[in-house]
Amino acid sequence: MQTEWAVVTGSSSGLGVAYADRLAQQGANLILAARRAELLEEVAADLRHRHGVRVETRPVDLALEPDRTAFADELSATSVHTLVNNAGFGTVGKLAELRRDRIAEEVALNAGAVTELAHAVLPGMVARRRGAIINVASTAAFQAMSTMAVYSATKAYVLQFSVGLWAELHGSGVRVLAVCPGPTATRFFAYAGDDAMLKQRRQPEQVVDTTFRALEAHKPFVVDGARNRAVAFATRFAPRGVAARIAPTFMKLT
Ligand SMILES: NC(=O)c1ccc[n+]([C@@H]2O[C@H](COP(=O)([O-])OP(=O)(O)OC[C@H]3O[C@@H](n4cnc5c(N)ncnc54)[C@H](OP(=O)(O)O)[C@@H]3O)[C@@H](O)[C@H]2O)c1
Repeated sequence: MQTEWAVVTGSSSGLGVAYADRLAQQGANLILAARRAELLEEVAADLRHRHGVRVETRPVDLALEPDRTAFADELSATSVHTLVNNAGFGTVGKLAELRRDRIAEEVALNAGAVTELAHAVLPGMVARRRGAIINVASTAAFQAMSTMAVYSATKAYVLQFSVGLWAELHGSGVRVLAVCPGPTATRFFAYAGDDAMLKQRRQPEQVVDTTFRALEAHKPFVVDGARNRAVAFATRFAPRGVAARIAPTFMKLT
């Protein structure tokens, strides 16, 4: 029988490592993808050692079209039971002051890779009548954000894309879930260039717990943590322009 795999993108650090660890605990063989090859190898060695599963690494830059296409082609020809589209990053700053290559990477990775990799694994999942696609969005998906306009727009895309796909696949045996974490203790903020914002952070393992509970319940999306759920709910009632303008202040104060 063909080996079945779980695939986790962005599994060299943060949430991706926690997703890979949980899937390995469940006995899944893993394909780990990210750019930092050495870190990926360290994560893989640890998972093989602790969980006795097969773990392969793919050092790929999913913001680059050739890498993304080659990886999607590989996944099309692989039996994937779970895809965690987790790789992503955020730019912080006024659009006019950000580098064009960075925002192009942000859109290509946060939205493009999520879409193309889901497209690559879906035919196999639909044919087998089982599988799961977990797309990591953010609470930033619920409102536009000044100084994180590109990031919040890409995450709104991930949320809408996932819920549309969830509905499209109803009754197919394939589950789709958008996960919306709030601030979580990873290198995300340091990488975004502002580690001082949003200091009340949850742990990656909590986000993973929330994810698998929601997947079990066949939900289309889930917000991690009671406080984040309350904030995401409250933004529904604020005028969009007001919510977008106060977002940076909210991020500094909380
Ligand atoms: N932490 C938070 O507060 C938070 C909140 C809401 C949503 N999220 C979302 O959670 C996801 C995971 O982020 P994190 O918090 O775990 O941050 P992180 O520790 O910075 O992890 C990001 C992962 O994405 C990978 N990545 C970045 N650029 C890539 C590229 N071009 N190609 C392939 N892989 C790439 C990184 O690996 P390499 O650098 O090795 O490529 C890393 O493994 C992201 O989608 C993020 O938007 C995070």
